[in-house]
Amino acid sequence: MTQKIDWLASPGTPLRGELSIPGDKSVSHRAIMFAALADGTSHIDGFLEGEDTRATAAIFQRLGVRIETPSASQRIVHGVGIDGLRGSDSPLDCGNAGTGMRLLAGVLAAQSFDSVLVGDASLSGRPMRRVTGPLSKMGARIETEEGGLPPLRIHGGQALQGIDYTLEVASAQVKSAVLLAGLYAQGETVVHEPHPTRDYTERMLAAFGADIEFSPGHARLRGGQRLRATDVVVPADFSSAAFFLVAASVVPGSELRLRAVGLNPRRTGLLSALRLMGADIREENRAEQGGEPVADLLVRHAPLRGVEVPEALVPDMIDEFPALFVAAACAEGPTVVRGAAELRVKESDRLGTMAAGLRSLGLQVDETPDGATIHPGALQGGGIDSHGDHRIAMSFAIAGQRAQAPVKVGDVANVATSFPGFDRLARGAGFGLQNA
Ligand code: S3P
Repeated sequence: MTQKIDWLASPGTPLRGELSIPGDKSVSHRAIMFAALADGTSHIDGFLEGEDTRATAAIFQRLGVRIETPSASQRIVHGVGIDGLRGSDSPLDCGNAGTGMRLLAGVLAAQSFDSVLVGDASLSGRPMRRVTGPLSKMGARIETEEGGLPPLRIHGGQALQGIDYTLEVASAQVKSAVLLAGLYAQGETVVHEPHPTRDYTERMLAAFGADIEFSPGHARLRGGQRLRATDVVVPADFSSAAFFLVAASVVPGSELRLRAVGLNPRRTGLLSALRLMGADIREENRAEQGGEPVADLLVRHAPLRGVEVPEALVPDMIDEFPALFVAAACAEGPTVVRGAAELRVKESDRLGTMAAGLRSLGLQVDETPDGATIHPGALQGGGIDSHGDHRIAMSFAIAGQRAQAPVKVGDVANVATSFPGFDRLARGAGFGLQNA
C-alpha cells in the first residue's frame, strides 16, 4: 500500500439512521475459493469489495479461473473443478490477508505446480508454521522465511495423506487450510479444535456438495471429492458492524439500526460482552441469509460498566477486541481481558497497539502477555499510530467521538482491506471524521 492517509476524529452529532454494512470478509474469501474449485458457474451476492477479498479473487484469476464482476457486490465465478487450476510463474500476492494466504496454502500444497505466496509488510510478519506444520505432516513441501514467516514457497506434485490433527491454537484459518488440503488427500482428514471457531468452511463445503461431517470443534472429510457450483449470499460482516455497535453505545443520544447483520454464533462474542457491560442492543427481523442467521441490530446509547471479559468468549470475538477496548475506555470501572494472546499476531500486535494508543490519549492500560486491564477516563486529544491495521484505525475513529480534543489517526489506508467506505458511512451517521 503506497497511499498514506490520516484521519482527524472529533465529536460529531449523536449517531442516527439505518446503515447497510458491507459483506462478510471470511465468507467472501471462501465463496471465491470454493466457487473457483467447483464444477460449474457460481453467483456470489453481497461480496465484500475490499482489498483482501479482491486479492484472493485476483489470485484465482491468475490461476486460470474466469471471474466476472457484474457489480461491486457481485461475482460470477466460472469454476475450473478441483483439478483445473493452472500454475502461475510469478508470486501470488495476498496483500494484507491472513485468511487468503493460509487457506490458499492448503489448496496450493496439493497442486501439481509450484507456487509462491507473498503478502504486504504486515502479513510478511505473521506466523505461518501453524499451517505449514500440519500441511507438512500431510506430505506437503513448503518453505518459509526464517521464523516461519512468508513468503511461502510451495512445491507442487506431492501426494498428500489424510491426517487426524488437533489444532494448537483455536484458528479457523488453520482448520480451513487442513480441510482444503484434505479434499485432495488420500483417505480421511479429521480436525479437532481446542475451542470451536467459525465454521464457514465446513458449512460452505457442504453447500458446494462436499460430504463433510462437522460439529462444534470437530470436522471430518474424505479426500478425492469434487465440488458442485452453487450460489452464495454473503451476509453483512458482524466484525464491521461491531464498530457502529460500540460507537452508538458510547456516543450519548445515539440510535442506529444496522440492517441484516450476520450473527453466526462463532462471531458474536462482542454482543455478549457489550450486553454484560450494559449495552442496549436489540435484534429484530431475524431471518436466514445464505444459510446464516441474520438480524437487524438496533443499538442505543447506554452507560457501560467495566467487566472481566469471560475467557470463553475470546475466540468468538477475536477480531472485535480493538472496538471492545474503546467501549472499555468509555465505561465506568476497569475492564479486564485475559486469554487473548492471539491478538499479538493479528494485522498488528493488537494488545500493544491498542494499549499504546489509549495511553497516548491519557488513559492507564496495564498490559499482560495475554491481555490488558483498561482503566477508563476522560479521553484527551492526540495522535495515535494504527500501524496500518484497519481495525485499530476504525477503533480510534470511535475514540475520537468521545475525546476532548481531536484525535489524529495515522495510516488508515488499510481500512479499505475490510471496510471500504467506512469513513463515508460513519460521517453520514454523525461521526466527526475528516482526512487530516
Ligand atoms: C478468520 C479467522 C480468524 C480471524 C480472521 C478471519 C477466517 O483468524 O481473526 O480475521 O476467515 O477464518 P485465525 O484463524 O487466525 O484465528
